[in-house]
Amino acid sequence: MQTAESTPWFGRNDSEIAIADRYRLLIDAVHDYAIFMLEPGGLVASWNLGAQRIKGYAPDEIVGRHFSVFYTPEDIASDKPARLLETAATDGRVEDEGWRVRKDGSRFWADVVITAIHDESNALLGYAKITRDMTERRRLDELEHSHAVSALVQQARENEQRRIARELHDDLGQRLVALKMALAQHQTELGTALAGPLRHTLTSLTEMASQIDSLTMSVRRIAADLRPSLLDDLGLEAALEWLAHDFERRCGVAVRCELDAHALEPGDFATTALFRVAQEALTNVTRHARALNVAVRLSSDEHRCCLIIRDDGVGFAPGAAVRPDAFGLLGMRERMVQLGGSLSVASRPGAGVTITAELRLPVEPHQVKRRLQR
Ligand SMILES: Nc1ncnc2c1ncn2[C@@H]1O[C@H](COP(=O)(O)OP(=O)(O)OP(=O)(O)O)[C@@H](O)[C@H]1O
Ligand SMILES: [Mg+2]
Repeated sequence: MQTAESTPWFGRNDSEIAIADRYRLLIDAVHDYAIFMLEPGGLVASWNLGAQRIKGYAPDEIVGRHFSVFYTPEDIASDKPARLLETAATDGRVEDEGWRVRKDGSRFWADVVITAIHDESNALLGYAKITRDMTERRRLDELEHSHAVSALVQQARENEQRRIARELHDDLGQRLVALKMALAQHQTELGTALAGPLRHTLTSLTEMASQIDSLTMSVRRIAADLRPSLLDDLGLEAALEWLAHDFERRCGVAVRCELDAHALEPGDFATTALFRVAQEALTNVTRHARALNVAVRLSSDEHRCCLIIRDDGVGFAPGAAVRPDAFGLLGMRERMVQLGGSLSVASRPGAGVTITAELRLPVEPHQVKRRLQR
């Protein structure tokens, strides 16, 4: 540890030394901050335990060296250390956040305050430098930022799907219906007038009409899968009922619904995310479960909502190898985490799968944006 005698402001009378010793004990007790002094030229003049912990140098390795060793080559090239001292000398103090370099060459994100110290005659004695390692905090901020960004990307995708679904339904769907009606009109007119080989043409017209019917159904189904209009118009409860009904009809698996979405607004972030979770969970039941029964339960109050989808199918072992390109469960979890919620998957071979998605309410787009701005 740096001794009292080697620092320029020590070596005074006994009571001053006693006070100085107390200050030194205090500073050494601080582990979360690097607290040390610089001489006016920037040489390190003292060192505390916090500095040793954060930057990795023992006192005898660093005292007397220039403090620019803590800076990255880019910062040194731009003369940043000298500029910071200049500003501290002129303005009294300077604050900075940025990458700094440890003894072992690794980098950490530092929050730094440099304060100029003057004697009674206003001569510059040196600088007090306090550094805090903010790497972990920055990592968490970045993580939160990336969740907020992907929530917005997700929202943009939902908006786009909504637009495509409307176009499909309102434009293509309506045109097909009009085409079918015109064709039916011609069929009726020709049916009475035609005889002989032209009857064959009429048969093919009838086939075309039934193809248009199935095309219309496909367009409706694709549009509804992209974004059921119920979700925006009537809300999550109606959309989940439609989803469950459609699933039952298509897959022949009995679905029991207990739904209470009174606390959720139609069309908000939470409804979309929960609908997508249910949609993926039911698709998984079709593809993997060989289930006979599915239960969908949604409960909500003003503080939270919880969606549970349970099947009685084959299940899978916890930790079972998942295809590297499988995205369903991952995507569900990502949707929930983006909105500050959680998703759990419980399963055992032969015991079905239970998916539980939980969100704290309210979840609003402006909350996501606020997280992004921080
Ligand atoms: N309800 C279920 N019953 C049985 N196994 C399931 C069920 N849901 C998921 N699984 C298992 O978990 C794996 C991962 O599911 P996930 O939805 O992530 O991927 P996937 O359905 O295989 O592909 P996709 O990316 O198209 O969703 C599945 O491959 C399947 O083995
Ligand atoms: Mg899946």
